[in-house]
Order: sequence, then C-alpha cells, then structure tokens
Amino acid sequence: MTRLYLSNDTSARAAGADRLAKAWAHTPGLELIRTSSRGAFFLEPLVERDMPGGRVAWSNVTPDDLPRILAGSGGAPVSQIPFLSRQTRVTFANFGVTQPLSLDEYSACGGTKGLERARQLSPGAMIEELKVSRLRGRGGAAFPVWNKWQIARETASDRKYVVANADEGDAGTYCDRMIMEGEPFRLIEGMLICARAIGADTGYIYCRKEYPAAAGTLRAAIERAERAGLLGSGPPGSHGTGFHLEVLVGAGSYVVGEETALLESLEGRRGVVQARPPYPAVSGLYGRPTIVSNVLTFAIVPSILARGGEWYASMGTERSRGTVVLQIGGRVKQPGLVEIPFGATLEEVLERFGGGMAPGARFKAVQVGGPLGSLFPASRLGIRICYDAFAEAGAILGHGGIVVYDDETDMVELARHFMAFTADESCGKCTPCRIGSVRGREILERIQVGRGRPGDLDLLADLGETMKTASLCAFGGRAPYPVLTAIEHFGEEFRRLMK
Ligand SMILES: Cc1cc2nc3c(=O)[nH]c(=O)nc-3n(C[C@H](O)[C@H](O)[C@H](O)COP(=O)(O)O)c2cc1C
Repeated sequence: MTRLYLSNDTSARAAGADRLAKAWAHTPGLELIRTSSRGAFFLEPLVERDMPGGRVAWSNVTPDDLPRILAGSGGAPVSQIPFLSRQTRVTFANFGVTQPLSLDEYSACGGTKGLERARQLSPGAMIEELKVSRLRGRGGAAFPVWNKWQIARETASDRKYVVANADEGDAGTYCDRMIMEGEPFRLIEGMLICARAIGADTGYIYCRKEYPAAAGTLRAAIERAERAGLLGSGPPGSHGTGFHLEVLVGAGSYVVGEETALLESLEGRRGVVQARPPYPAVSGLYGRPTIVSNVLTFAIVPSILARGGEWYASMGTERSRGTVVLQIGGRVKQPGLVEIPFGATLEEVLERFGGGMAPGARFKAVQVGGPLGSLFPASRLGIRICYDAFAEAGAILGHGGIVVYDDETDMVELARHFMAFTADESCGKCTPCRIGSVRGREILERIQVGRGRPGDLDLLADLGETMKTASLCAFGGRAPYPVLTAIEHFGEEFRRLMK
C-alpha cells in the first residue's frame, strides 16, 4: 500500500486537491491521507510521499501525475523547498504533516505538552511564563497577553469566559482559518491553558460565517477532545477538565471582529461597538471577566508553555518577540503563509518568500494590515516587520496580511473601494465613522468621474483627521489611512482627474 499525503485545507481544495482525491479514490494499493496544508499555496495541489530520505513532494499536481508519483520520480524533498526551509516555524511546524482531527498525531508531534506543563504550574506561574515570553496579541492591537490574563485572573467573579476571536476579516489573511482547519487541537489547547490560568469554565470560538469548513472541523475536534477527557466532563468514570467549549458562527460583519462588538453578537445582539473601559478582561461576556484573544494568539501559547518563555523571547526584535505569521497575497509569484522571527524587512520577505512579482507584473504598492492598513510605495519597502517600525511609520501590522498591487492598479479606485467598504461595514454607533465614511466615499466618487472640486484633497485630509481622532474604535480611526497614504504616495493620479 502506498500512502500519499494531500492537504484538505480550503485553499488547497480550491487549487484542485479534491479533484485529485476524486480521480484517485479507487486506485488499488493507494491510501490517500488528507492533512493540513504547508501554506505554500503556489505549489498546491501538493502531493507528498514518505521516501527513505524523508518526505518528498510533487507540486501543482494533476490527476495524470499519479504514475510518476507512484514510480517515485520527479519529486523534490520537502526539506529542500526554499519557501519552507527558510522559515522558522513554531505555530505552523506540523502543518502539512498531521491529520487535523487526529489527537494521537497531534500529541506525537509535541501537542498537549504545553497543557501538561501548565498542569504542573500555578496560575500565577503560567502567567509569569507568558510575561517572560513577551507575547503580544496577534489580532491587531498587540497588547501584552500576560497582562490581560492577569487582569482577568485578579478580577473576582462567579464566572469567567475565554473567547477565541475567529472573525478574521482582513483581506488577504487566512492563518486563523488554517489553524482551525489544520490543527484545531492547538487552538483548543491554548484556550484550555488560558482557562486554567484565569479560572474560566466556559469558552466560545466565534467563527466567521465565511469559514464553514473551519467551524465543522472545530466542532468535530471539540467532540474528540471531550471523548479524550480534555474538554467537558470527560468520558464516563473520569472527571475531565470541566472546561466547556462551543463554536458559534457570526452573521458576516467586519466590525464584529472588534472585541466589544463580538461580545455583543455572542450575547445575541447586533454587533455594535461599545465604549471601553471597562475592558472585557474586567467586564466582558454577560458582564464577567473575559479573555477575548485572536486564534493565532491562543495557538502560540502551547509552544510557549512547552518550551519556555525565554526560548520564545529569544526570537524577534526588542519589542516584538517571537515569530510573525505573514500571509503574502496579491500579484506575487509565490503567495502563501510565512512564519519567521520579527525583524526582516518587507522587501526581504517579498523577495525571499513572495519570489518577486508575478510574471509580467510590475510592483506599484503594498498594503499590510488589511483594509485599515497603509499603502506603501517601493521606496518604503525597507521597513522592518515589527510593531515599533510600523507604528513609527503610521502603519499597522494588523493580522499579518500582505497584499501586493501591480502597476495596473488604479489608486483612486482602490481608495474609493476602501472608503466604500468602511461605509458598508460601519456599525453606525459613532458619527465620525458612520457619516464620515459616506462623505469620504462621495468625495472620492466625484473625483473619480472628473467632478472633483478644488480643495477636495484637503477636505479628505481634514475628514481623515476627524475620523482618526474622534471615532469610537479603530475601524473609523484607521479607515482614512489607505485613502490618505494613496494620496500621499500616488497623489498625481488624483490630481490628474481634477484638472
Ligand atoms: C474593526 C476591527 C476589526 C477587528 N477584527 C478582528 C478580527 O477579525 N480578529 C481578531 O482577532 N481581532 C480583531 N480585532 C481586534 C480585537 O478588537 C481585539 O483586539 C483582539 O481580538 C484581541 O486579541 P489579541 O489580544 O489576541 O490580539 C478587530 C478590531 C477592530 C477595531
């Protein structure tokens, strides 16, 4: 029996993995194992096989390639694929290797070691380990994780909650989805460790509606974790961990990714942003102390507990420790997921991993951090990928999405598109965002059709300033950045339409 490994990740399936599985389903002597994805999406569908020297991979496979794969010819050792071998994978170390719903494989690859260590530590010692690691939240705000946990732990309450933010709405991001589809036990383990540290007995994973496969995999993983005694009351005769976990699916809203809006939605109301303080760590779900953290943040925690905070903090830059998970997309040769220590320049990442521009395309701009991120021209590519450098540049790393635009991109249309997105998605609670985004869109629309008025660019700058300073949350506060940086770096395109 020959075993072949093929990813079951949504992106791999979109690239044709299911077509291979269907075509090869009844091949005698062939066992097809569906794994997580390595995240090298430009190589998908990627088929792997165990060979004497280790895993060998065949990329961009079509059904007709089966004979040469079975003959063992033409593949490349996985360890020699530069896109992968140049990375420092911590959270994504097992991706492409294990089966998402096999708890045995997860444990065999080092999974559950973090939880085992956590069981030997007091809650205070667990939080201390996170403090040493200097882990900051990966959902966008980059708040120190230990600090949030400490606050929730110290706030007295009859109940506490742990909530994973799986709303992942930034364009070009998918690492949370990959975790949920590819290694759901890692997220569960991270949430369990958090629950032990703060004293919570209930958790929710708030998953965006656009991720049906992730929600399904998570539910199946929770069921298996319950049977194994990791969650809930455990199998008959055992005590289990007493931690109950449930998946809830959102209704499709970008702003619901904001933590207070997410909690509103979890409680069954419209996802509208609430004023803070109080912060959720003090008064969150049903008014109880709640840790709301990003999926990736929770997924990093088991490795820190297993290998120690110092080990994690030894990677990265002074104030951005550990690894950063980047998702490269747009007009590059090699779109995919990259995990490396913080500190490389954007240019290095686009060259070494993105492989440069797609054939025939010329670089124009790059946006990091989703629809609220600044647009950078080529002259800014020397920026280091860490929280400080991005903050100094008035930019955000967000959730690590990098979208590259080529020279055919119409920057006026791009700016209009982002303002229109804000107008569509604004929750409506505060005036600067609700009204400002509509007025911003109108100004950009009239510029676009040649009806721009003198002073319109100044008006956009003024409006942007108001939105930045007076909006209730970072949605309105960051929405002007794509527009203002488009005008800053590509202003000629706007002025040309206004002559
Ligand atoms: C408009 C808006 C959208 C957001 N979307 C997300 C999201 O999709 N996922 C996420 O983890 N955090 C998102 N955040 C950040 C959350 O409010 C919160 O800071 C985060 O979930 C905390 O997790 P962390 O500490 O792990 O970063 C968003 C914030 C804003 C203002």
